[in-house]
Amino acid sequence: MSKQLNEEVQKLFSGFSKLNKKERYQKLVEMGALDSSDVEYLQKKEPVSFDLAEKFIENVIGYFHMPMGVVTNFIIDEKPYVIPMAVEETSIIAAASKTAKWVKENGYIKTEVIGQEIIGQIQIPKVKNYEFLSAKLAENKQNLIDQANVEVAAGLVRRGGGVTDIKLRPIERPDGGMMAVIHVMANTCEAMGANIINQVTEFLKPIIQQMTGEELGMCILSNLVDTKVTRATVVLKNINTELGKSIEEGSLFSQIDPYRAATNNKGVLNGIDPILIATGNDWRAVEAGIHAYASRTGQYTSITKWTYNEDTSELTGVFEAPIVVGTVGGVTKLHPTAQLSLKMMGIESSNELSQVCAAVGLVQNLGAIKALTTVGIIEGHMKLHIQNLTLGAGAEEREIPIVQKKLEEILKLKKRISLSHAIEVLKELRSSHKVTTQHNEVR
Ligand code: MEV
Repeated sequence: MSKQLNEEVQKLFSGFSKLNKKERYQKLVEMGALDSSDVEYLQKKEPVSFDLAEKFIENVIGYFHMPMGVVTNFIIDEKPYVIPMAVEETSIIAAASKTAKWVKENGYIKTEVIGQEIIGQIQIPKVKNYEFLSAKLAENKQNLIDQANVEVAAGLVRRGGGVTDIKLRPIERPDGGMMAVIHVMANTCEAMGANIINQVTEFLKPIIQQMTGEELGMCILSNLVDTKVTRATVVLKNINTELGKSIEEGSLFSQIDPYRAATNNKGVLNGIDPILIATGNDWRAVEAGIHAYASRTGQYTSITKWTYNEDTSELTGVFEAPIVVGTVGGVTKLHPTAQLSLKMMGIESSNELSQVCAAVGLVQNLGAIKALTTVGIIEGHMKLHIQNLTLGAGAEEREIPIVQKKLEEILKLKKRISLSHAIEVLKELRSSHKVTTQHNEVR
């Protein structure tokens, strides 16, 4: 990345977390991430209508409001990003922004998507004649692909995608018989592709059934999209040996122990899920795909890997897993906040969105491992958590700074803090001030 771009981004993001709400909006408008109508929208009491919710789901009773913030300091593939995150966990945005600053000042992030096809499955529960089935499918493969592309996926074909391949996999049944699965491969362009691939498989089912004489079962996409994998790489230079080695060791732990891998991957998803939510993407699908990919060798492992090179003093991290997202269709298209989020990031393709998610997940992971292998998790987490505890205890506006200060002192002294500390501090404060109105009762 050029020195000039780095300095420009540095200037744009500097001091962002210290700004008040109005200044934050101003800064984002200055950056070109928002315009005045976006700011107006974000400040509305009820930005999204009840009617829209009725279009998404049944039995609507309202909305669940989740905080949305922006992550700063990210430069991915030499492009600076303002990244929206819809998330409730206190330290996620702060940790991602802080770690991204470290990366920006000492290295770079590059990303890529490997492969472009998603998978639709058609099950054949009890295969009668595998050889005949296999031969028939091979003989008619192109014909089946063409029919699906004309009858169901014509729109995709017009946009440069469509059904590309049909494969057969045998699976041994527990009763000794044979199951088989037909994998229908498709490039779904800017769509996540669930609807279209499900339609394609259901369209092909009766045709294949008639052609092969087999009894076909369920038709559904697979979330284990190992045919379209997103990779992010972070390289940090001039890392001292002690820190580099401890991060490598922390990462090794998650590569060889599934108990640690689960927590490591949860931390990676801390960086990914909030972007998926902000952009109206199906985070359950991505979660399922990532966890299945993490188990592909038979043992659940880490989806990130950090290595340190003592000779060059370089720390390198790699994230690799499927993150199949869409930038058109569904909630992404209909929800105004999802549209705003995509615009804020300047996202031009579904692959680009997937690459941003991978980069943020990897940097979030770096922040967590760095904290865990140095000062520990309590310090960063708890300082921010104090705010929540203070509010949770029922502190009022004028009491908040006093309670927070006292809790920080307790944290320093005891290295831990809980809601009961906050309640105790607030009780003491009130009794010393003899404030006993019903209104500010300690919860
Ligand atoms: C907490 O939300 C996430 C971490 O547990 C991740 C990790 O342990 O790597 C801190």
